Amino acid sequence: MFGLGYVGCVTAACLARLNHSVTGVDPDPHKIDNIRSARAPFYEPGLGEIIEETVRAGRLSVCTSAGKALEEADVALVCVGTPSERNGNLDLGQLRRVVGDIASTLSHRSRPLIVAIRSTVFPGTCEEVVLPAFAGEPHVSVVSNPEFLREGCAVRDFMEPSLLVVGGHESGPVRRVAALYDRPAGEACLVSLRTAEMIKYACNAFHALKVAFGNEIGSLCDRLQMDGQEVMETLCGDRKLNISSAYLKPGFAFGGSCLPKDLRALAYRAAHLDLNLPLLKSVLPSNDCHLERAIQSALDLPGRIGVIGLAFKENTDDLRESPVVTMLEALIGKGREVRVYDPQIRLDSIYGSNRSYILNAIPHIGRLLDPELDTLLEWADQLILAQKPEPLVAAHIAASRLPVLDLVGAGTLGAEDVIPVNQDVD
Ligand SMILES: NC(=O)c1ccc[n+]([C@@H]2O[C@H](COP(=O)([O-])OP(=O)(O)OC[C@H]3O[C@@H](n4cnc5c(N)ncnc54)[C@H](O)[C@@H]3O)[C@@H](O)[C@H]2O)c1
Repeated sequence: MFGLGYVGCVTAACLARLNHSVTGVDPDPHKIDNIRSARAPFYEPGLGEIIEETVRAGRLSVCTSAGKALEEADVALVCVGTPSERNGNLDLGQLRRVVGDIASTLSHRSRPLIVAIRSTVFPGTCEEVVLPAFAGEPHVSVVSNPEFLREGCAVRDFMEPSLLVVGGHESGPVRRVAALYDRPAGEACLVSLRTAEMIKYACNAFHALKVAFGNEIGSLCDRLQMDGQEVMETLCGDRKLNISSAYLKPGFAFGGSCLPKDLRALAYRAAHLDLNLPLLKSVLPSNDCHLERAIQSALDLPGRIGVIGLAFKENTDDLRESPVVTMLEALIGKGREVRVYDPQIRLDSIYGSNRSYILNAIPHIGRLLDPELDTLLEWADQLILAQKPEPLVAAHIAASRLPVLDLVGAGTLGAEDVIPVNQDVD
């Protein structure tokens, strides 16, 4: 175990508790002396007892020499710090040094060594910094094994992890590292090297986002003299749409008659209350940026463009604030040849604010709408998927062999594919 800070020390002790033989390496004499004396070098509930037990049992030891630690080792776990630089970038100094230390011990090694990076590092670091340090070392494999424990309940988090992720290019070393943690087979997420690195950032960003969201809703409730705890507890009671995987997969921008309107109202009322809620205020601009990226990709397409979907999601004919309408305006404005197919849109049967919205945005929409999918597929050189298609529609699109710009994350289009449910936000 390279690095005996909060993560490394807990991981070393808990792995020794799981009957592995662990040697910890750290240049910090305070940590080395404490562990050697069977004491925890810092306070963490339950850690002292485990260190005492495992050091006395001879399963956990420490040293300051990488070579000595690796003599008998099958796996080198790296838990060194990756602090922020002044500009927010990661300081990889400790990582580079420890990887160099490990590489310098390998000249006479003939047995395999797996180097597992547990430190939080930006995607690409293993490929750009760690793997090159072991170039020409056929015995060494590199995996990413990010840590998710929380200080204050780190031992319990280690024993009952919220997530166990191991990523790498070769399945053998990935499975070997996953097996270290003595969790039921199948519980670990075995992924690519870069996904394992990125998942840590995605998780921490999501946690931070949740805290900030709860606090902004709470602050607005306070200002309105309401009980924010009651509001958020009620929100958390919805396990179908709120505390669930709904709306969390990458896809197209949101739209429709509710979300944009309600977010605008929240931002407007908060501003009137002199309440700065940057997170809630930034949701619509973030959605606009996402739509802008999609429009740029659409504008880059050559030839005649067939768009699948016009409403803001499938199975509705509501066109109000549909991001597809904005995209069509941009394409038409730049002189692109476009036609649209949406199985639910019949211009003669939509009316009221819905009808006036679309006729106001694209007065000649009637001429662009193709009532038959097959006619659109014959006409188009290129498709844009702006709604998740029904299986039958997906099969026709796949059979057409037309290139598809998939804005909704529908994945591979095949008749037998299960198309995941859309982010059908109302
Ligand atoms: N602290 C947390 O709650 C937590 C949770 C998950 C992930 N992480 C990530 O885990 C990593 C480690 O975090 P931490 O809080 O344990 O850091 P830390 O600063 O407490 O510990 C890092 C340790 O690495 C040692 N070290 C530096 N260079 C070394 C070398 N060449 N050889 C051996 N040891 C060396 C340092 O002396 C120090 O003891 C970071 O990337 C962090 O982002 C931290």
